[in-house]
Amino acid sequence: MDRRSFMQTCTAGAAGVSLAASFPALAADARPKEYARALLVNERGDPWRAAQLVPQTNYVFHYPFEATPVFLLELGRPALPHALNTQDKDGYSWPGGVGKNRSIVAFSAICAHQLVYPTREVSFISFRKTRAQKGLQDGLIHCCAEHSQYDPARGARVLSGPAPQPLCAVLLQHDPKADTLTAHATLGGELFDAFFRKYEMKLSLEVGTKARNAVRGQAVVRELDKFCRNSIQC
Ligand code: FES
Repeated sequence: MDRRSFMQTCTAGAAGVSLAASFPALAADARPKEYARALLVNERGDPWRAAQLVPQTNYVFHYPFEATPVFLLELGRPALPHALNTQDKDGYSWPGGVGKNRSIVAFSAICAHQLVYPTREVSFISFRKTRAQKGLQDGLIHCCAEHSQYDPARGARVLSGPAPQPLCAVLLQHDPKADTLTAHATLGGELFDAFFRKYEMKLSLEVGTKARNAVRGQAVVRELDKFCRNSIQC
């Protein structure tokens, strides 16, 4: 390479470096991750009708795995689409609520901070009708462990606390004729691998060998107060 070409190469390289520094790589979009479809049913196996959900009540089902809990909420007001980011800066557009009033939402109940989740014995994380801390709005999902608060009307984005990203959304399909709900995908920052790593032993005692089995066909929805003996209100 002659001196002139060498200088051109160096100049182009330097420009490339400075451009790269000025314009960081564009974030990839997070897309819905489809899983097996699961109709939401009660303990008798009858489909839950959307109209049966009591507004602002905590319901829990497990999806997309037998051991991964999800909050189902009828917010009592429409939840509109919202642009969000995962902690890896992947952007995604949460599609908002479903149902007649677009007020039904579902989110993984695994806190995005240190993976606290509702068990049959105790839950430190739940939806609160009224504000859990001064200065914050009502109707938030609050984790008592270190007080992360998520807004379920805006894709469970983080309003306060140490959580680095929104709760992972669970996408529901509403059948307007039958008024039933079917879970079919997640959207956002999944934490399932970290969850199974962290709680491997605990989950094997709580759920047994099927903890990581995919939920398919049906998922049983229960009120949190019936699923869990102690729902902590902090
Ligand atoms: S685990 Fe929920 S705030 Fe820390």
